[in-house]
This record gives sequence, C-alpha cells and structure tokens, in this order.
Amino acid sequence: MKVKEAYYRTIWIKPGDQKTIQIIDQRSLPHEFIIEDLKTVEQVAIAIKDMHVRGAGLIGAAAGYGMYLATLEASSSNSFDKHINAAAARLNATRPTAVNLTWAVNRQLTAIQQGSDHQEKIEIANRTAIAIADEDAAHCKNIGNFGLEIVEEIQRKKNGEPINILTHCNAGWLAFVDYGTATAPIYAAFDKGIDIHVWVDETRPRNQGARLTAWELAAHGIPHTVIADNVGGHLMQHGQVDLVITGSDRTTYTGDVANKIGTYLKALAAQDNNVPFYVALPSSSFDWKIRDGCADIPIELRDENEVKYIQGLSDGALKNVLLTPLESPAANYAFDVTPARLITGLITERGVCQANENSILQLFPEYKKV
Ligand code: MRU
Repeated sequence: MKVKEAYYRTIWIKPGDQKTIQIIDQRSLPHEFIIEDLKTVEQVAIAIKDMHVRGAGLIGAAAGYGMYLATLEASSSNSFDKHINAAAARLNATRPTAVNLTWAVNRQLTAIQQGSDHQEKIEIANRTAIAIADEDAAHCKNIGNFGLEIVEEIQRKKNGEPINILTHCNAGWLAFVDYGTATAPIYAAFDKGIDIHVWVDETRPRNQGARLTAWELAAHGIPHTVIADNVGGHLMQHGQVDLVITGSDRTTYTGDVANKIGTYLKALAAQDNNVPFYVALPSSSFDWKIRDGCADIPIELRDENEVKYIQGLSDGALKNVLLTPLESPAANYAFDVTPARLITGLITERGVCQANENSILQLFPEYKKV
C-alpha cells in the first residue's frame, strides 16, 4: 500500500543487507511513521509480543522472518538444531491466539530440515520467509476480489445508494503483509468506484480501529467515521449498517472465529438486526485441529495497564495518561470467540463459504480427515 506516494509492505528484508528485517513500528501510528530494524530472533520476539507488529497475518510473516534470522544465528552457535528449536519455542511463546504464528514457525521448521548443510538451511529459510509474506499478500488480494462480489450484491439491492460497512479492530494491510482481509473488499469496492462509507470501531483498549484502520482508510481517501465500541448495535437498529466485515486471528475448521475482543457482541447485534456478518481470513488463520472454538481457542490475557492507560498525542509527543483510579484493577482479555451460528459467511482466498465444517472443507479438501 502507498504511504505518502511510496509503496510499502509491513515487513521486508532491508535492501542491501540480508541480515536485517525491517518493519513499520505500529506503536507510534497514526502520529509517527517509524521504520524499525530487527537483527536478532530476540528482537523479532519482542516486536511481536509488544506489538510493534501485530495482526494475525503479519505475526505469521514476522515469525517466518524470525526463523530465517535464527538460521543465521545458528550457523555461528555450538549446536545448529538446538538454536533453531529454541528460537521456534521463543517465537511461539510470544502471543497465543493468532494461529498464523505457529503455522509459520512449523512451516519454517519443516523447510529448514530439508537443507543438507548450514548454508543451504539459511537459503531455504530465506526463501520460505519471503514465500510466506508473498503468499499472505496474494491471499489478501484474492479475498478482496471475492469480498467485492458481496459488496456489489448489496449495491444492486441499494440501487446505488452509499453502502455502510462496519469493521472492528484492524484487519487492514497493517495486520497482514499487504491489502488486509476485512479491508481488502473495502479497497476493491472503493477502487471500483462503489460509493462506500466505513464505520470504524475504535477497539479498546489498544484502539487498533481508531489508530490504524482510520489511518489506512484516510490515506486511501475512503470515507469513514470512527465510533466508540458500543455504537454499532444502535447503528444497526437504525438501518445504518449494510454489512459487517471483520478479520480473524484463529478460525476452527467448524467455523468458530476468534477475533479482537468485542467482535462477538457485534455479531449478536448483527444477527438481531438481520445485518450480514462476514469474516475475512486467509487459510493460514484456520486451525485444522480445534473443533470447539469457545472451549479450546487460547485467549490472550494482556497487561492491565493497556486498559488503565490510554495513549495519544499531546504537545506534539506521544503520551500515556491514566484513565482509571490508580488502585482499580483491570482485566484485559484481548480476544473473544464468535460462534459459527452467528456468521453469514467466511471470505477466503479460495472463495466464500459458510461457517461450517462441510462448507469449509469443500473449499479446502486437503484438510479432510481420512
Ligand atoms: O491484538 P492484535 O492487534 O494483533 O489483534 C489482531 C487483530 O488485528 C484483529 O483481531 C483482527 O481483526 C484480526 S485479523 C488480523
């Protein structure tokens, strides 16, 4: 995507320096655009855990590049395999909910094993990291094209009146390598000249909607309005939402969706008001082992200070201010699970399917259990 006329992905190898990974440090957006260098596995792990990079697809891509750095480090360590396995464990421990993380680490572990010597293992890890990132971008682009058909169908019913789409959190290009998932149909529709407007949930406590989705949409010139997290139900009751599209951090093969905390409440309101509720995700966000999302998807519990303090720009500097009584404890559940029965459909890189085992496995037959 373009940022001030320059084309960026969210992660890449530094030109001219194969040993450095570069990322956009998302903690300072939308107020500052900072590129950060990552040179070690530990720096990648910190960047994931502390959310310099975040969003399911980007977490996976970062883990892929982290494993490539691990091969560089391992070649000068005492035991190559021991170092690689420790790096995999370190990266896997950073964030529990987005399944893209372990998916990417496991893909790298399998690939690295194929190399016959250290140099070949490094080259394989480099190619695999790039492939993970390229595929993520390509899958998001396809999701945009399939999601566009849903927007066009609504456009026909509305006879050209503006279409109001509500989204939660940031499942935009910043959450992936490019294009995003929930935003990909929005970009595709806007670029095709369809009259759209986006309701952007602020997404407390880290405000990925207010900070990141709003920044992305503004940069693209897409009409949008930031709303407090509790507004969506009211808008739906008053016919002001035609479509909800969210992303997913982990979706079971039965169609239950873990996504940013608050998604479930939006799905309940959407069902009560007959508003279509779609989830857009690449296949790397499916968990092919878990059947019951509510019972078995691990939900990240983050630091209470993310709830107690709020970050913003003051006198030209980023500051954290205390919101609650200092002594009040806070609970910071980062994700919730929306049961499949509340979901109209899943938009994937292979097409749109229903949120149930049969329909998902028809699109992805290679995961059918034998
Ligand atoms: O905690 P984050 O910002 O990494 O959360 C992930 C998300 O961006 C959202 O849940 C998103 O809707 C899922 S799609 C990446």
